[in-house]
Amino acid sequence: MGGGIAQVVAVSGRRVSLHDAAPGATERGLTAMRRSLERLAEKGGPDPDDVLPRVSAVDDLVPADLLIEAIVEDSAVKAELFRRADEVLPAGAVLASNTSSIPITSLAAVTGRPDRVIGMHFFNPVPVLELVEVIRAVQTSDETAAAITALAEDLGKVPAQANDFPGFVSNRILMPFINEAAYTLLEGVAEPEAIDTIARLGFAHPMGPLALADLIGLDTCVAIMEVLHEGLGNPKYAPCPLLRQYVQAGRLGRKSGQGFYAYS
Ligand code: CAA
Repeated sequence: MGGGIAQVVAVSGRRVSLHDAAPGATERGLTAMRRSLERLAEKGGPDPDDVLPRVSAVDDLVPADLLIEAIVEDSAVKAELFRRADEVLPAGAVLASNTSSIPITSLAAVTGRPDRVIGMHFFNPVPVLELVEVIRAVQTSDETAAAITALAEDLGKVPAQANDFPGFVSNRILMPFINEAAYTLLEGVAEPEAIDTIARLGFAHPMGPLALADLIGLDTCVAIMEVLHEGLGNPKYAPCPLLRQYVQAGRLGRKSGQGFYAYS
C-alpha cells in the first residue's frame, strides 16, 4: 500500500521519499506505480513521466513534513519505527500510520509529539478507492486532525473520522465478514467461487470476501482479527482456523501467488 499512497501524494504535486526495509521493495513499488499511472493516464490522468520524478527511493527515514507509515501489522515493529521517526523528522512534522487496526494511541505514546500522531488509513487499491479513514488517538490535537483531513481532501479522497477503538470502523465491520466467509468455506457450505459470486451479485459488492481477503493479504487479515479479538475480548473475533492454516502454509493471497485462489 505504501507505493499506492506515495503515488496519490505525488499526483497531488508533492514530493515523496519512499523507504522500505525489505530489499527490492521500493523498486517493486515504483514499477507498480508506473503501471497504475499508465492505466490512469489512458483515462485523462497525469503523465507518469511528470509524476514519477517527484518520488525518490531512500535508504532510511529522512526529514520531511509528514511521515505516512505503511509497514507490517506488528505493534512492536511499528512502535520502533515511530520512535525512530520521532528522532529523524522535525518537531513540527506529523507522524501518520496507515495501520488497519493497531491502536494509534499506543504509537502516539512512544513519541515526544503525541498530539501530532494520527491514523490515515487508505484502502486498496489506493489510487482507485476514495476513502481515507482518519483515526484520532486520545492525544491527537484538533490541529493535526484538521490538517490530515484537509490533506486527504487535497489528494482527491473522502475523509471519514473514527475514534481509536480496535479495528476502527472499517475493519471492525469488514474482517468479521471475511472471517465468516472463511468459516463458510471451512464448513463445506460452498466452494470459494460460489461464496464470492453470492456476495458480488447478491449484495452488489465489487468483489467477494475471499477474493478481497486475497487482495488484502491473509496474513494481514489474521493480524487484524487478532487485534479485534484481543482488544474487544469477544470470542466472535477469533481468526478462522482456515485463515491461520493458509498463512502457515505461506498462502498469503495475491502477493504470494496463492490464497483462496491461485494467481499467475
Ligand atoms: N491503479 C489504477 N487503476 C486501477 C488499479 C490501480 N492499481 N486497479 C484497478 N484500476 C482501475 C482499472 O483500470 C479499471 O478502470 P476502468 O473502469 O476505467 O476500466 C477500474 O479500476 C476497475 O478495475 P478492473 O476493471 O481491473 O476490475 P474491477 O472492476 O473488478 O475493479 C477493484 C477492481 C477496483 C479492485 C474492485 O474490484 C474493487 O473496488 N474491489 C473492492 C476493493 C476493496 O474493498 N478494497 C478495500 C480493502 S480493505 C483495505 O484495503 C484496508 C484494510 O484495512 C484491510
